[in-house]
Amino acid sequence: MKIGVLSGSPKGEKSVTMQYVRFLEMAEPKHEFFVYHIGQTINRLENDRDVWDALIADIREADLILWATPVYFLLVPAQLKRFIELVSERGAGEVFKDRYAASITTSVHFFDNLAHDYLQGISEDLGMRWAGSFSAEMSDLMEERNQKQLIAFGDDILAACSEKRPVERRFLPVPQTKSQYQPGQKQDTVDTKGKRVIILHDADPGSTLSAMVTKTADSFQGPVTVAHLNEIGMKGGCLGCIRCAFDNQCIYTDGYIRFWEEYIQPADIIVYAGTIVDRYLSSQWKQFFDRSFFLGHIPKCTNKEFIVLVQGSLSALPGLQENLTSLVCVSGAHLTAIITDEGKTSDDIDALINSAAKQAVNNIHTGYNPPPMFPAFAGRLLFRDLIWGELWPIFQADHRYFRSHGLYDFPQNHYKKRLENRILSLLLSIPKIRKQVRSSMQNQMVQGFSKVFVNNPIIRERTDN
Ligand SMILES: Cc1cc2nc3c(=O)[nH]c(=O)nc-3n(C[C@H](O)[C@H](O)[C@H](O)COP(=O)(O)O)c2cc1C
Repeated sequence: MKIGVLSGSPKGEKSVTMQYVRFLEMAEPKHEFFVYHIGQTINRLENDRDVWDALIADIREADLILWATPVYFLLVPAQLKRFIELVSERGAGEVFKDRYAASITTSVHFFDNLAHDYLQGISEDLGMRWAGSFSAEMSDLMEERNQKQLIAFGDDILAACSEKRPVERRFLPVPQTKSQYQPGQKQDTVDTKGKRVIILHDADPGSTLSAMVTKTADSFQGPVTVAHLNEIGMKGGCLGCIRCAFDNQCIYTDGYIRFWEEYIQPADIIVYAGTIVDRYLSSQWKQFFDRSFFLGHIPKCTNKEFIVLVQGSLSALPGLQENLTSLVCVSGAHLTAIITDEGKTSDDIDALINSAAKQAVNNIHTGYNPPPMFPAFAGRLLFRDLIWGELWPIFQADHRYFRSHGLYDFPQNHYKKRLENRILSLLLSIPKIRKQVRSSMQNQMVQGFSKVFVNNPIIRERTDN
């Protein structure tokens, strides 16, 4: 069989993911592997029609398409995203139809699930049949146990393809929205009281998103910076070179870093506005997110408020919803609202935008940023263990930040608690005490809170006023 490998890494043959593909190729000598370095050659694919046509002709010959890519910012790299857009823009989707497809990624398992779901959704949109996903941690291949798992995956997807295994579509097609949003008269505006607002967007002139951006800017009283992604001087996608790891210095010297430092970093309220393209926002947005990797694994937007405006069928894309909410929360910011144009009247959209603007300003003034939920919470622990346990000699900037911000908060450091637990566990080995504790477990669990209720200064201050 012919396996067409669509490689998403901008590092081409030197990519970690490619080592997994090469291993698979060695383990499956009866099959032919053709590798296309999409991530590395995206500019040529976009600008040289012969290169594009040759690739499409080769894909026509493939029995199985294997997406092989690193996970970048909870998805695939912007370069691979752009390729997927080109397939649709150039009407090349029919070459993929009825083929089997599978995905293999390497990552640190931070939202790798969303990247695989995205590739499966895209493949199903192209009429392909999904054979399976394999998500490896970067260094898994070093261990025999994982090598065997990879070979089993290879055998399985090849078997799916040769026996024409029936598969069920998992992600339904995304319905097109048609909104006729016309912003109403200027309503109440909210005084930002000196807080800085930036709106960054990729709206086409005259589009619904463009109108939503204008409405949002008009909802704030005070200066608001509005910028199109085309204007920020971003010359290309993240190259995955990791040269930024030591000191947050990106290899690019384009306008992106300047823009980040001048507008994103000092902003209090950030509005991201994007149009859905396939099952995500545009590849331009993806490039913007990928490029922020120069700041490493630290929370990049602590204590900021975010509003996200989306044109398109977001309700049909739970993966994109999770992606956007997690992206904001993991950055340490608070998500005021995601506002779409789906199924709403112009008045509804106006009201939502106005209310989000008010809420964002209010939250910034009160400092409201509730405890993180699972994605941000688990993400922080994952990065903490990763940087401390493995990456810190390279990711020195992260290491400095984690140390200076008390983020190396391993439970092993809680010596008092550890001593208490040791004593408690000894006591609980005594049957009589264990019986007593068992019978009063519920009381024990809430007992410690009693001190919060007695003479609480915060409650006193509120009720006295
Ligand atoms: C820009 C950038 C973004 C990344 N984002 C993620 C991520 O969201 N989740 C994750 O688990 N790993 C992430 N990583 C780590 C890569 O997925 C990982 O290093 C991968 O093995 C690189 O593969 P490659 O050498 O084939 O490009 C990111 C790396 C870079 C450079």
